[in-house]
Amino acid sequence: MSVRVIIGSQWGDEGKGKIVDHLSENVQHVVRYQGGANAGHTIKFDGKTYVLHLIPSGIFHPNTSCIIGNGVVIDPEKLLEEIKMVASKGAHPERQLKVSAAAHIILPYHKQMDQAREKSVGDAAIGTTGRGIGPAYIHKTARTGLRVMDLTEPETLKKKLVYLLEEINIQLKYLYKLPEIALNPLLDQLNLWGEQLKPYICDTSDLLHKAYEQNESILLEGAQGALLDLDHGTYPFVTSSSPTSGGACTGTGLPPTAISKVMGISKAYCTRVGNGPFPTELHGADGDKIRQIGREFGATTGRPRRCGWLDLVALKYAIRINGINELVITKLDVLNTMKQVKVCTGYELDGTFTDVFPKSIAQLDRLKPIYQGFKGWECDISHCKKRADLPEEAQALLTFIEHETGVSIKIISTGPDRSESITDANFTA
Ligand code: GDP
Ligand code: IMO
Ligand code: MG
Repeated sequence: MSVRVIIGSQWGDEGKGKIVDHLSENVQHVVRYQGGANAGHTIKFDGKTYVLHLIPSGIFHPNTSCIIGNGVVIDPEKLLEEIKMVASKGAHPERQLKVSAAAHIILPYHKQMDQAREKSVGDAAIGTTGRGIGPAYIHKTARTGLRVMDLTEPETLKKKLVYLLEEINIQLKYLYKLPEIALNPLLDQLNLWGEQLKPYICDTSDLLHKAYEQNESILLEGAQGALLDLDHGTYPFVTSSSPTSGGACTGTGLPPTAISKVMGISKAYCTRVGNGPFPTELHGADGDKIRQIGREFGATTGRPRRCGWLDLVALKYAIRINGINELVITKLDVLNTMKQVKVCTGYELDGTFTDVFPKSIAQLDRLKPIYQGFKGWECDISHCKKRADLPEEAQALLTFIEHETGVSIKIISTGPDRSESITDANFTA
């Protein structure tokens, strides 16, 4: 039995939801460890499509337990909506779902602050999802956040909120020019959410330790991607948490020694939603074609995603900082009609070759990608059930990725449906 982390190895939206759902049938626990409802994880089966923002992507497998870990920032309203949604689609959240008492909560003012800041900073806007993620993590690190457990302790909650609102209201009024928040309506709302969430709340790190000691299989589902990581991503155009494998430990309470497998998910090309550097971005017809065929529009905000070629420098960087030892390539089918497929193998920076992913935004904006071209396969691949069934041009691309990264590809995704995956014969979930 294993603890496996699933990591987005680009800028998010790599198809993590699809892969987690695909693997969950044979897994006992699926755990979200960071981020919040900024995530949009899409699952498709039986002709229906579901988008999950907070609930782990294993929820549609009735015997799989789904845990929201302490590192997630939870918007109670969104979570309650999502619980209703999955229950109406046949899942059993009352039995399957557990929520960490230690997770921080997103309050309505976090969303107001997030959106107001984005509007007020002009060109410096990050292009956030507006879900209150940044402000909620700011308050977590400032030690002025509220946690899920506070929702179930009305007296403590009231004391904390009276104190917090003094500071929050000064910020809302003078910094953001927004109306102040009255104590009682917010308190009533939080108490109600507390009652509704109570059946799900527990000490999830204790639950996970026991599961780990009993050798149960655990899948840790990252949100966002390595290049949006607060420390290792394209700062400041990042999210406010650690989607990388280190975050999987702090966000669940499981120790690093528990993790044996780190699975990196990468599209066969690259996308980014929101602002910030993107060395291989395509601005012309090829980018538009990928967006149309790949339906590259945000699962959370509906925004068009920026599209470009696969960037192996960035992927190798993601592999290093996460310790990725298994790769999944998704959306290979999206390239079916391309005459030529390109892959970035290095950068030219100020006239010099580099294969190091720069930390500086100015350098990232200046560099020019160096590409290796591959002949396109120009045919449908939906009938391919084994890697050997794929057209030889597609196989050549996959072999090149493995050779360059030194990591073997365990799953190749050839469509959005749960069933549209080619899994390596030696792979165990
Ligand atoms: P996540 O955030 O990493 O879970 O990814 P999203 O769900 O935001 O975005 C991935 C999108 O690609 C979703 O619309 C999926 O249904 C879709 N998708 C996933 N894998 C494949 C694939 O192999 N082929 C195609 N055509 N679509 C896919
Ligand atoms: P999943 O889990 C893609 C991006 C936003 C913005 C930046 C900061 O579906 O892959 P935030 O709201 O987190 O403060 O926004 O991060 N972003 C994502 N991009 N997929 C996601 O999640 C994302 N979550 C946040 O677009 O650029
Ligand atoms: Mg997504």
